[in-house]
Amino acid sequence: MPDQLIKWQNVESILREQLKRSSVKEIRTPIIEMTELFERGIGESTDVVSKEMYTFLDRGERSCTLRPEGTASVVRAIINNGLTTNSFQKLWYMGPMFRYERPQAGRQRQFHQLGVEYIGSNSPRSDLEIITLAWDILQKLGVKNLNLEINSLGDSEDRKNYQNSFIEWLESNYKLLDLDSQNRVKKNPLRILDTKNRETQNLLKNAPVLIDFLSQKSLERYEFIKDNLDLLKIPFIENTKLVRGLDYYTHTAFEITSIALGSQATVCGGGRYDNLIKQIGGNDTPAIGFAIGLERLMLLVEKDLEIHRNIDLYIINKGIIAEALAIKLSRKLRNYDVITEIDISGSSISKQLKKANKFKAKSIIIIGEEEAMKNQFKIRLFSDNENNKEKTINLEDNSGLEEWLKNIIPIY
Ligand code: HAM
Repeated sequence: MPDQLIKWQNVESILREQLKRSSVKEIRTPIIEMTELFERGIGESTDVVSKEMYTFLDRGERSCTLRPEGTASVVRAIINNGLTTNSFQKLWYMGPMFRYERPQAGRQRQFHQLGVEYIGSNSPRSDLEIITLAWDILQKLGVKNLNLEINSLGDSEDRKNYQNSFIEWLESNYKLLDLDSQNRVKKNPLRILDTKNRETQNLLKNAPVLIDFLSQKSLERYEFIKDNLDLLKIPFIENTKLVRGLDYYTHTAFEITSIALGSQATVCGGGRYDNLIKQIGGNDTPAIGFAIGLERLMLLVEKDLEIHRNIDLYIINKGIIAEALAIKLSRKLRNYDVITEIDISGSSISKQLKKANKFKAKSIIIIGEEEAMKNQFKIRLFSDNENNKEKTINLEDNSGLEEWLKNIIPIY
């Protein structure tokens, strides 16, 4: 609704500005993709793919899906456009995503994400760049009391080593697992770490942890990131259980949470996905990214972002010739950065003045028959203490108009 959108627009423009300053470029992908993209990209046994996708057959009997997230779509788009062979790409997107989840505060079936993807670098410095970008964006918006949680999921080899001992542990505790987790022991055991079932979560406290199975190289990479976060004074918590809900992650995984959000506490999630691009059919290209949930972000940003700019000029006009002049003038004013409102009620000047007051207009223009006959209008500051500042300007007198506008918009 218009009043709610003021905050959204203010937040979105700060986000765009910050991304521009970091030379990240926008990419726009379709909302609908072939279902197979998400099955292959996100993983068939993830909750997102197995339970939450809006999937349908189109008239050509092709299985299509409303995108549940943006990363797979961006990867598909850059492969299709031959961009993975180019140098390092820094991309962002903003738009609706769809997941069939139980709606509640901070969880919608159509929600919005701002996503950022850095494609083509395996340097741990790009991990740092991405984490600090996500962190700083949230700071810029004045969001307080955030927790950054990080973990390393290692590479495929590390995970294979871990999986062997984890499966052994799962099998010995099989009867104590929830049904969903039992089904995943053979199919995708790592997904069990992401279970929402409280009893299984408790049981997992005694399970082997992935971090103990990382190779020296993977550990060094993880240490580099932690050391540098310390240097940058970005506080973080190590969470060895953090695996994220999507299958494509390797090495760095992170989430930014806020207790102010209640049970849906994660406002931002991301990580490295070095195998995804190859898996979807592109060249072997490393990448890392994150996405911020905008509905959750809106719950966290301060009220002062709800402020909008009032009307700069309210055009009061009475009589046929005055009405014609008012239209000409409002067209002219569109060339300047001023917010105008033309009164089209035809009611008395005093009633129109009341409306200008209600809209808290900075300045009013009054066109009565007398002024209109001379092709002129009166312009007046409307704030209480400057009531007497007034000027009569001819419609053709652009410099006179511009001089006046400096009163209400210092720089335009
Ligand atoms: P994700 O953790 O699935 O990651 O989603 C990112 C964020 O989107 C969440 O932290 C949350 O704020 C928001 N979100 C997710 N589902 C909902 C929902 N149903 N209602 C409201 N907000 C929601 C991804 O989507 C990855 N593509 C992030 C990424 C980018 N990883 C690498 N690059």
